Amino acid sequence: MNLGREHARALDAADPLRSWRARFIAPRSDAGEELVYLCGHSLGLQPRLAESCIREILDDWGTLGVEGHFAGRQPWVAYHERLAPPLARLVGAQDDEVVAMNTLTVNLHLLLVSFYRPAGERTALVVEKYAFPSDRHAAWSQVRFHGLDPDRDLIEIAPREGEDWLRTEDVVDLLERDGSRIATVLLPGIQYVTGERLDLPAIARSARRAGCTIGFDLAHAIGNVELSLHDADADFAVWCSYKYLNGGPGAIGGAFVHDRHARRDDLPRFAGWWGHDKASRFRMGPEFHALAGAEGWQLSNPPVLAMAPLVASLEHFAAVGLAALRRKSIALTGYLETLIERRLPGRVRIITPADAAARGAALSLRLEVSHDRACAVFEGLRRRGVVADWREPATIRVAPVPFYNGFDDAWRFADALAAELA
Ligand SMILES: Cc1ncc(COP(=O)(O)O)c(C=O)c1O
Repeated sequence: MNLGREHARALDAADPLRSWRARFIAPRSDAGEELVYLCGHSLGLQPRLAESCIREILDDWGTLGVEGHFAGRQPWVAYHERLAPPLARLVGAQDDEVVAMNTLTVNLHLLLVSFYRPAGERTALVVEKYAFPSDRHAAWSQVRFHGLDPDRDLIEIAPREGEDWLRTEDVVDLLERDGSRIATVLLPGIQYVTGERLDLPAIARSARRAGCTIGFDLAHAIGNVELSLHDADADFAVWCSYKYLNGGPGAIGGAFVHDRHARRDDLPRFAGWWGHDKASRFRMGPEFHALAGAEGWQLSNPPVLAMAPLVASLEHFAAVGLAALRRKSIALTGYLETLIERRLPGRVRIITPADAAARGAALSLRLEVSHDRACAVFEGLRRRGVVADWREPATIRVAPVPFYNGFDDAWRFADALAAELA
């Protein structure tokens, strides 16, 4: 491969998605130059369309007041319903299996209330040892909520000694060996530190065979890789929308509940009026009748202002299609990987799987230098106009996002890293 910048620019010129970059607002340096923004795995960029979607709600609120609930251009009472079809496409679900609501950790708790139901010998909840802390806190507190002891009933599964990735076969072995004492398995779609993409269908199959419920945290997977939650037979999934979905800081999260649970009245759930049957909701009766499907897990009326940027972003996803984004993503991440390997041999270890099917857009780079030197390199990158993120002890995570990053961004990043490590 040609390592020169002209080649990166030629790849950008030939990119069928190159015009989409202009629909996002890219942060700039004090001198007005566009930064190399490789942090879409943390906070996706702002779609320009977001402002008019928010403005529409503000205007309706101003002109209609409370009547905006029913008479707004997009009536607020049903605003969240527009989000379900495009979200369902992204996670491989039916429209009624998906709902935009709350935030990730809140949704995780709500769904664990329904799907983690320890009974008899089957009491354990499985999480990955290096899970995002909020997932672990949620799981730990749910075990305690049932009066159980996390030392016994929170099972942590980890990569093998000396390895970076969780092996599917190890998850399957655990479920075959200890399945009869496991109530629920909670795993990520993509691991947040290493960028490893897990084989969700294989894990879900094995969990179901063992009689356990299975849920996934899709924070780093949704909008990044193709998913098939319905066909995989997952029981539930949750996600946030501020990463690859570009929904804005603290954006509304989402949840999936498999159709086979859509009408189950036997499941315990924490209820609120927005999960109640729409036809009788405003009769304000005391009894709760859950809506069929994922909507039945809603609690409150939707925060429409917080949903507006996501409406904008999902319009873009619908227009481009995840398949085209993923095609570019595989090429772009592969290009970045080659640049790093060829320009920085021995100084950076990529801890993300090399197989494109086993990762998404992001690469995690372990700097093979002292901790202090690694910190200095990271700070140096920022001075050179690169926005990436840092995980202790010496890992830099970068995500070239196919919507708004190009091959020249990858080249500029690799060049800045080479200069810092020189
Ligand atoms: C993998 C993962 N899980 C959970 C969370 C927590 O999300 P929230 O703060 O929206 O609950 C995050 C946040 O970045 C995350 O990356």
